Amino acid sequence: MVSTTMVPIRMTNSSKPSRNRTLTLSPGEEQRLRPRIGQAQSELPIDACDGRVFFGSVPEVLDFFPDHFVDLLILDPPYNLDKRFGEVAFHQKSMQEYAQYLDNILRRLLRLLRPTASIYLCGDWKCSPAGYEVLSRYFQVRNRITWEREKGRGAMSNWKNCSEDILFATVGTHYTFCADAVRLRRRVIAPYRTAEGAPKDWTQGESGKFRDTMPSNFWSDLTIPYWSMPENTAHPTQKPEKLLAKLILASSRPGEMVFDPFLGSGTTAVVARKLNRRFCGIDCNEEYLLWALRRLELAERFPRIQGYDNGIFYERNTFAEQRRKSSPELSESMASDA
Ligand SMILES: C[S@@+](CC[C@H](N)C(=O)[O-])C[C@H]1O[C@@H](n2cnc3c(N)ncnc32)[C@H](O)[C@@H]1O
Repeated sequence: MVSTTMVPIRMTNSSKPSRNRTLTLSPGEEQRLRPRIGQAQSELPIDACDGRVFFGSVPEVLDFFPDHFVDLLILDPPYNLDKRFGEVAFHQKSMQEYAQYLDNILRRLLRLLRPTASIYLCGDWKCSPAGYEVLSRYFQVRNRITWEREKGRGAMSNWKNCSEDILFATVGTHYTFCADAVRLRRRVIAPYRTAEGAPKDWTQGESGKFRDTMPSNFWSDLTIPYWSMPENTAHPTQKPEKLLAKLILASSRPGEMVFDPFLGSGTTAVVARKLNRRFCGIDCNEEYLLWALRRLELAERFPRIQGYDNGIFYERNTFAEQRRKSSPELSESMASDA
């Protein structure tokens, strides 16, 4: 599984085009941040997990984490594809073997969850059937979110794969779900009026007619991080902050603990911090954890989540509208993103 042939390619700040905002760390920053990476080598008390990122391999290190400390579990493991994460390679398996891989992880995670906890498991069309099967062994599976992943090349002999799934499950029947926290502001195409002529279920805003719609299980408003977005890193499968914001706002309350054992570039931790949740994460790649730590520092100064503002999620390409609604300070940061 471990390759010695990979040579990481890094862009230095001086070699980046000026609008490329991909996170880069200088050797000095890496040296400063490295001691903050936790090592999970013996049993950890809850306080030691709070706001920390750990280097380690799942499922083995899970045994060091405390009982019932997690309110929201985000699982974004390698999908069932040949994929390299730095020096660690994941190899495609049969569907049964992938289900076994997930089962080994979920069984160890059960002990860590509170009875009211929710679980989200990311996957693509090929691996989410295994995810569904394994999740339903231990949890109540409540939904499958499909989100439009608008990136990647087309294919001449198949449909271009442009979507991913997120399975939603809960430990029990009592769980948090805050639908109002994840409404999506949509332009109204058919602005019906009541018999008296008043807008029916929509509002006239400065930039047109809109409705704050209830969240559905199909998300077409996300943008995969790319080079001009400040949240972008060189991680090969980084999730958008906006996606995590939806999961965290719907399924946790401020102050609750969000746990992500496949933390990658730290998206879950960063969004949890921006939304005043507690967090803990693990990854087996030290460089990714360094990026996560730097992003956490930047989150203190730039708490904005692209596409989300003041309790409302916006459709793609609605910066102008968001700018009008935002504080001057936020406006300025959006202007540089647009
Ligand atoms: C799909 S990515 C997660 C990306 C993350 N959500 C983000 O936004 O950056 C999966 C991550 O799992 C990590 N990983 C793979 N195998 C692992 C293992 N056995 N233990 C811990 N982490 C692992 C990889 O290094 C990679 O960063």
